Amino acid sequence: MIQLQSVEKSFSGLHAVHPLSLMINKGEIHGIIGTSGAGKSTLIRMMNLLERPDKGSVYVNEVEMTALKETDLRKARQNIGMIFQQFQLVMNRTVGQNVEMPLELIKIPKAERQKRVEECLNFVGLSDKIDAYPAQLSGGQKQRVAIARALANNPPVLLCDEPTSALDPSTTSEILQVLKNINETFGATIVIVTHEMNVVKSICNRVSIMKEGRLVETFSIEPIGVDLNEDHYIEDLRRIAKVKD
Ligand SMILES: Nc1ncnc2c1ncn2[C@@H]1O[C@H](COP(=O)(O)OP(=O)(O)OP(=O)(O)O)[C@@H](O)[C@H]1O
Ligand SMILES: [Mg+2]
Repeated sequence: MIQLQSVEKSFSGLHAVHPLSLMINKGEIHGIIGTSGAGKSTLIRMMNLLERPDKGSVYVNEVEMTALKETDLRKARQNIGMIFQQFQLVMNRTVGQNVEMPLELIKIPKAERQKRVEECLNFVGLSDKIDAYPAQLSGGQKQRVAIARALANNPPVLLCDEPTSALDPSTTSEILQVLKNINETFGATIVIVTHEMNVVKSICNRVSIMKEGRLVETFSIEPIGVDLNEDHYIEDLRRIAKVKD
């Protein structure tokens, strides 16, 4: 589904990503974990060519992204949704208008756009916020709007760069549950960049570890599921507290 072949990227002499190859299978939730500066964002941004690799090839849904011209690349990107840590919503547009944006770009008729916006907002549980502005929403709600916008084109692939890093633990669980639902309902392939082990443990089927621009190892894992309450944090704290007593 997503295939990186010997991709690499430097920024003015600094090797952000050394040559690496990675295959992400259709329908999996793939985590990419590593410390700050490891090259995670550069790697995920090479998957939709927001960052063009210096060398190597990128294939998404059997299309060689690295071989496409700008107009074809724009088209191919419609099949790849992306969400970010800081949500990247357009602040002077309503929630509904934010979700509508990708549909305007591809000139979907108004009535059809409206229907799709409602479907997507309904999916993320925010139908009642359609006329609100992003500034009126919590962080978790903003991320749901960003997810709804990413879903508007019904993309088979969703890229997530630190989707929960700006959120508290219980909001993180909610967002992870939304991502899991997208994976299960639409069979979407999801890539999640994170530095949070809990994110990986909750929903990822496979995880790649990055260190200093290199892919250290890829594991298959059994996700433990999304914990929608905070009891386990309390349990963790109790354990630590006992050790210290
Ligand atoms: N546009 C850029 N120009 C110059 N250097 C860059 C650029 N983007 C990334 N880098 C550098 O490449 C390296 C990898 O950065 P990257 O953002 O991919 O790391 P990361 O793993 O996502 O880190 P973080 O967890 O902090 O987001 C870093 O040393 C960073 O400073
Ligand atoms: Mg990053």
